[in-house]
Amino acid sequence: MRIGFVQTCPVNGDVRGNLERAERLIGDGGGADVLVLPELFGTGYLHEDRRAVSALAESANGPTIDWARGISKSTGAAICGGFIWSDAGRLYNASFFAYDGKRVALYAKTHLFNREKLVFDEGPGPLSVFKSRGVAMGMMICFDWQFPEVARVLALDGAQILLHPSNLVLPWAQDAMRTRCLENGVFSITANRIGTEQDLRFTGGSRIVGPKGEILCDGPKDEEAVMAVDIDPALAADKKITERNDRRRDRRPELYARLTRPDFAEKTLAERDAEK
Ligand code: ACM
Repeated sequence: MRIGFVQTCPVNGDVRGNLERAERLIGDGGGADVLVLPELFGTGYLHEDRRAVSALAESANGPTIDWARGISKSTGAAICGGFIWSDAGRLYNASFFAYDGKRVALYAKTHLFNREKLVFDEGPGPLSVFKSRGVAMGMMICFDWQFPEVARVLALDGAQILLHPSNLVLPWAQDAMRTRCLENGVFSITANRIGTEQDLRFTGGSRIVGPKGEILCDGPKDEEAVMAVDIDPALAADKKITERNDRRRDRRPELYARLTRPDFAEKTLAERDAEK
């Protein structure tokens, strides 16, 4: 299987122009089976208020997903990327996965970064895994990298590849994804953007990582690019680390249960001690 990313430099608000440029970069797909575009690659990242976000929002059958369905049909590559999703009065920073002319999956970002909290609604979940060409994949968006539970849940649900449309501005995510891949024994495709918006500079350096945390492909820091590599997704089925260690079976979930109690995280150790 050949997997890749399309690193773009969107112009804020110019959805049509951004899709056209992405289409030119993708060309005939270069033989890729899966191509991931950045978060919000059609709309750009920063929007003044909810009204501005609403003006760029689309339904799950809107023009961006129509476009992706068309490209997936004409190139043979499944297309994943970010868009603003308007659903039942909510505005989500979301991603889609389209293959063979069909929309296969949608995901609304669950961990909003900084000013996104002012204009988007938090995705309600679930974090879900779907199959395309017999390979299990899950989507996470940008700042979701900071929460290892996201990759963990997707991997435990069987994802072999994490699709990670991004608009990264902090310097850590690309390296953190090596750890996400290593601890879960999966592949990841982080598709980042370049360029600037207001006070933000996006860091490029899109990256594909393998299940041992190895870097399979590194994009440039400051140019648009399409890059892809051949992988064997079956390698993500092997969770063994040593003869006696297995990433999945060696887990001790009975010790982690309190991670999912919302009130646990709200109190520091000192606060809990003070209550005793
Ligand atoms: C980000 O989540 N776009 C940094």
